[in-house]
Amino acid sequence: MATLQYFVCALIILSLSLDGANGYYFASEDQCHFTSPDQYLEFTQTLWFNKAAFMRFNSTLGEWEGYTAFGVQIAALRNKDKAFQTRMRAEKERYCRRNTQIEIICILTQTAEPEVKLRLTKASSSGHPAMLVCSAYDFYPKRIKLTWYRDGKEVTGDMISSEELADGDWYYQAHSYLEFTPKAGENISCEVHHTSLKEPLVVHWDSSMPEPERSKIAIGAAGLVLGFVVTAAGFINYKRKSRGMWCYCSAV
Ligand SMILES: *[C@@H]1O[C@H](CO)[C@@H](O)[C@H](O)[C@H]1NC(C)=O
Repeated sequence: MATLQYFVCALIILSLSLDGANGYYFASEDQCHFTSPDQYLEFTQTLWFNKAAFMRFNSTLGEWEGYTAFGVQIAALRNKDKAFQTRMRAEKERYCRRNTQIEIICILTQTAEPEVKLRLTKASSSGHPAMLVCSAYDFYPKRIKLTWYRDGKEVTGDMISSEELADGDWYYQAHSYLEFTPKAGENISCEVHHTSLKEPLVVHWDSSMPEPERSKIAIGAAGLVLGFVVTAAGFINYKRKSRGMWCYCSAV
């Protein structure tokens, strides 16, 4: 994993007190800064009282730092406690190894199959070529390969592929465009390779229908579908907002 990553786990305890009507919050936040599943750069544990961090153990410094008068006092006491210090200094290896590996396994085993659509974006007109787009939606992880075939032969030119675009909720989408001059009886297909698929997914372009007829059918179908779409839009919107993948933080 080339990029630097963080693993953060926060434990929040609400302590109800007799004189605080709304209670007080104490939080302990453990953070691992790592470059790969076994390369840990830094471990920090930050202690919060209500909204203020009052002290932090930082493995790079090898000791506690206080941020408030109280925090400075406690940090000084903890830094003198040799047994406690030894234990905290070992946390970078122990805590980070256990938790980042749980997290990494959780993320790496997640996959979502792409939904693939093949459509005409530009019909051919007086000498200008037509354009097809092969779109893959809602897949995870990011890496995907879209390949075009014309009569069983892989197309190497005349195509532009987009990068994988993040949908912002773990899922990705990708699009590949093919410029072509329609020929009767030609078989065009888009092949999708993705880790979630046992075998490549192939979508064929149906070029048997002449284009004007296809657009008439499309207009008719669109009208029919519109009513349904409007009704379904609210529901889909709700579903899209509520979907997502979760990895549970199980700090140990
Ligand atoms: C930990 O200490 C190092 C060295 O002073 C510093 O560079 C780093 O930013 C600190 N980490 C945090 C999370 O404050």
